[in-house]
Amino acid sequence: MGRQRVLSGIQSTGNLHLGNYLGALRNWVEDQNQYENFLFVADLHAITVPQDPATLGVNTYNTAALYLACGLDLNDSTIFIQSHIAAHSELTWLFNCITPVNWLEDMIQYKEKAVKQGESVNFGLLDYPVLMAADILLYKPDKVPVGEDQKQHLELTRDIVNRFNDKFGKVLKLPEPLIRKEGARVMSLTDGTKKMSKSDPSELSRINLLDPPDKIANKIKRCKTDPVRGLEFGNPERPECNNLLTLYMLLSGKPKEEVATQCQDMGWGPFKSLLTETMIDALKPIQEKYQAVMDDKGYLESVLRDGRQKAEAIARQTLAEVKAAMGYSVPL
Ligand code: TYM
Repeated sequence: MGRQRVLSGIQSTGNLHLGNYLGALRNWVEDQNQYENFLFVADLHAITVPQDPATLGVNTYNTAALYLACGLDLNDSTIFIQSHIAAHSELTWLFNCITPVNWLEDMIQYKEKAVKQGESVNFGLLDYPVLMAADILLYKPDKVPVGEDQKQHLELTRDIVNRFNDKFGKVLKLPEPLIRKEGARVMSLTDGTKKMSKSDPSELSRINLLDPPDKIANKIKRCKTDPVRGLEFGNPERPECNNLLTLYMLLSGKPKEEVATQCQDMGWGPFKSLLTETMIDALKPIQEKYQAVMDDKGYLESVLRDGRQKAEAIARQTLAEVKAAMGYSVPL
């Protein structure tokens, strides 16, 4: 039997943050040799919020470069750009016509963003999970590794599979979410009850993978803590403490018990120094590799060309099966 297939993606902001890394990308890299991986840059999802045409394309390539910088290996992983494969948009339309609007109106992420944006909310934001279902189902993956915030969208994807297969016959494969216990919800540095997010207006709320050491040091210096001495995991009264300790654990690679013992009597000052140093050390190899990838644009372009070819062959096949099941005639 061949390896199970994994599919996942990250929006093309050009600069990923620690939530994207610890909730998704790092796990793709760690598990990649167990699976056949299809990993793409979600540049169609990116335009659900306004994007400057002058930077959209550049950010998309930068995000792909970060995938390589974080250690994706082309022997195990196919890397491609969502908008390069038209089947994603086409399948979205077909799924739109079997997806009830109220399923989409129930999505937490939509509700949160719609409230923030008020009347200016665009239809793409509502339809976003249908595009995500198309992204996934085109590749018939077994597993979809994501952070906690995408769980509800994966449930919707599974609902679409069941609805489609009931109506048109068993064409689509039911994927399983792959969500790790630790790192699945990295919290904001300025408020431990909110997730770290690229849409937070404060830069101080997140660490980006490409932040230079002085920026990291400044963000950690200014991050929110609490007045209690000694650090501990899992105390709901101390969300910032749990978040920062978890970041230290994941970035240092130390076991949880060891971190708990090491930090139980530590004051915030020494802990912040330790966390800063650990973070800078963990991000340094990624930043160096990123620079090397960016210095060789031809290589990155060839990776994306190969990725597109491999992915497109699979996507086209699934789209043809879906259309045939729905009754479309094959073009002459
Ligand atoms: P996006 O770009 O918002 O986030 C990419 C990945 O990072 C995870 N993530 C987090 N994990 C832990 N803590 C956080 N604070 C945090 N913030 C983000 C997300 O869970 C995700 O795994 N719609 C998706 C992209 C997408 C996709 C797909 C994913 C499009 N099509 C198909 C999987 C399969 C999104 O906007 O993720």
